[in-house]
Amino acid sequence: MASGTGQHAVAFAEAFPALDWVPSDIDPGQRGSIEAWRRASGAANFAAPLAIDIAAPWPVETGSAQAVLAVNLLHLIPESALAPLFEGARAALGAGGRAIVYGPFLRAAGYASDGDRDFDAVLRARDPSIGYKSLEAVSGAAASAGFDPVAIDAMPANNLLLTFAAS
Ligand SMILES: C[S@@+](CC[C@H](N)C(=O)[O-])C[C@H]1O[C@@H](n2cnc3c(N)ncnc32)[C@H](O)[C@@H]1O
Repeated sequence: MASGTGQHAVAFAEAFPALDWVPSDIDPGQRGSIEAWRRASGAANFAAPLAIDIAAPWPVETGSAQAVLAVNLLHLIPESALAPLFEGARAALGAGGRAIVYGPFLRAAGYASDGDRDFDAVLRARDPSIGYKSLEAVSGAAASAGFDPVAIDAMPANNLLLTFAAS
C-alpha cells in the first residue's frame, strides 16, 4: 500500500524473490514512478502498480494476499481512515495473513523525541486532519477489523513496526 516512488518496494521485491509483490498508490504520478522502477528492475515478482486509495474499497480479490504492508503512511492519513485501511487489509487477507504498518507513532508516554513532536506539528499545520496516530488508535482499528496483535518492533529513528494477524 502507498508505495510512493516505488524505490523501496522494488528493493523489497529484489530482496525477497520468493514473494510476489503488488505495489499500489493513490497518486497517479507515484504510480508512474513505481512503473519506471519496475521496468528498470525487471524483477519478475514485482507487479504493475494498482490504483488504491486505502480509504476506499480495494480492487483486490478477497483473501488473495498473504500480507499487506504500509510504510510511512499512517501519519499522512486522517484517523478516520484507519478503519477502512484495516477493513481493506482484512478483506484482502486469508486467515492468519499479516497486516504490517511501519512509521512514527505516538506512544503511551507521548512523543518518542522532540524531533517527532516537531514533525507532527508540521504535519498538523499543513493539514489538521493528519498527524501521528496513537498505538491505541491503530490497535483499536485493527482489532475492530478482525486482527490480533502479533508484535511491536522498535526500528531506527524512533519508528515502529506493528504486526497484526487476521483472525
Ligand atoms: C511518505 S510516502 C511513503 C512511500 C513508501 N511507502 C516509502 O516509505 O518509501 C506516502 C505515500 O502515501 C500515499 N498515500 C497518501 N494517502 C493515501 C491513501 N489514502 N491511499 C493510498 N496511498 C496514499 C502518497 O501518495 C505517498 O506516495
